[in-house]
Amino acid sequence: MTANSICNSVSPKPAVSTKGESHLSIATIPGDGTGPEVTAEALKVLDAVAKIDGISFHVETLDWGGDRYLRTGEIIPAGGLDLLRSKDAIFLGAIGHPEVAPGVLEKGLLLELRFKLDQYINLRPVKLLPGVETPLAGRGPADIDFVIVRENTEDLYCGVGGFLKKDTPDEVAVQQAIYTRKGCERCVRWAFEYTRKRNSPRKTLTLVAKTNVLTFGHDLWWRTFQDVAKEYPDVKTDYNHVDACCMWMVKNPDAYDVIVTTNMFGDIITDLGGILQGGMGVAAGANLNPDQGGVSMFEPMGGSAPKYTGLNQINPIAAINAMAMLLEHTGHAQSGARIDRAVAHVTGTAMKSQAAGKMGHGTREVGDLVLAAINAEQARLQKV
Ligand code: IPM
Ligand code: MN
Repeated sequence: MTANSICNSVSPKPAVSTKGESHLSIATIPGDGTGPEVTAEALKVLDAVAKIDGISFHVETLDWGGDRYLRTGEIIPAGGLDLLRSKDAIFLGAIGHPEVAPGVLEKGLLLELRFKLDQYINLRPVKLLPGVETPLAGRGPADIDFVIVRENTEDLYCGVGGFLKKDTPDEVAVQQAIYTRKGCERCVRWAFEYTRKRNSPRKTLTLVAKTNVLTFGHDLWWRTFQDVAKEYPDVKTDYNHVDACCMWMVKNPDAYDVIVTTNMFGDIITDLGGILQGGMGVAAGANLNPDQGGVSMFEPMGGSAPKYTGLNQINPIAAINAMAMLLEHTGHAQSGARIDRAVAHVTGTAMKSQAAGKMGHGTREVGDLVLAAINAEQARLQKV
C-alpha cells in the first residue's frame, strides 16, 4: 500500500493501539480534485493546536481515490479496512473523479467506509458563522445554529434492489429502503443524548420523517422515537414531515435545535442546511461510530470540485471545521474549540466570501489566517 506519513512526535507510532491516550493516530484520505489542498490546510491547523495543547499525533496518508482506482482498478486495497480500524480517526478530503463513472467511488469508498466501519451517525452542524452570507434574507448567526443527526447505514442507501427485464420496454427497477429497530434505535438514542449534552435553551429533538406515506418504515421510526423519548424527560420532542421541514428550515431556522432523521432525507436536508450556513465552503460533517473501539471519519461536506483543482482557490474552512470536529470527538474538545474560535474570527474579519475563488485570499492563505488567529489568541492568553 502506498502511504507516507507525517508526525509531530519524535518516537515512531507504537505498534500497539494508543486509543484512549493523548496520542492521536489519524489516517487521511485526501482523495480527488481539491481534496488534497483542503486536507493540507486542515493538517496545518491540527499541527498548530497540537503544539499548543501538547497532543502528539501521527498522520498516515492513503492515496485512495479516483487516480489510484484508474491506475490499479482497486478502491480500498486489501487490509485497508483493518488499517483504518487501528486508527483513532479518519480524515477524508473529497472523492469524485471526472473520469470515473458516478457511483463507483461514492459506493466503493465513501459508503463502503461508512457501512463497514459501522459509522451509524452522520453529524452535520448547521451554524452560520460571523461574516458569512446566508441566502436567507434578514437572518444572522443568532438565527441559524442547529444540528442534523442523520442515520448513516440504512434506508435507501443499503444497496438492496435489482432490475427485471433490464433494457426492455417492460423493465422493472426495485430499490429497497431497509429500516431496522436496532439501526433506528441506536441513532435516535444517540440524538437524545446529544441534545441533552448540547443543552441549548430550546433543548428540543425534532424527528423528521414521512409517517403519513411511509407507513411501515417511518412508523418504526415514530414508535422508536416515542419509546426512547421516555428515557429523556428533560428533552422536548417535536415531529416534522420532511417536506414541511424544508419549509421551516428556510422560514424559521431558529426554531430548530437538533433534528434526527433517516439516511436519505438526511442527505437532502443537510444540503439545504449547508447552504443556509454559507455553502460547501464551510459545511463539515462527521461519520461517527460512537461505540467502544469504533473509528469515526470526518469530512468537509463538499465534493472534489475538479475545476478548481490545483488553483489555490478552494475554500479550506469546511475541512478545517471537520478537523475541529475530529478533535472534539477524539477527546480534544479544547483544541477543537480553539479552531472554532479562530475560524469564526477569520470568517468574521478577513474573508470576502466563502465561495471558491472569491474569498479575497487563496486556499493556503486562508489556512494561514486561521493559524495566525490560533496563535494570536494563545499569545494574548499567555500575557494575561
Ligand atoms: C453526502 C454525499 C454522499 C451521500 C454521496 C457522495 C454518496 O452526498 O455525504 O451527503 O449521499 O451520503
Ligand atoms: Mn449529500
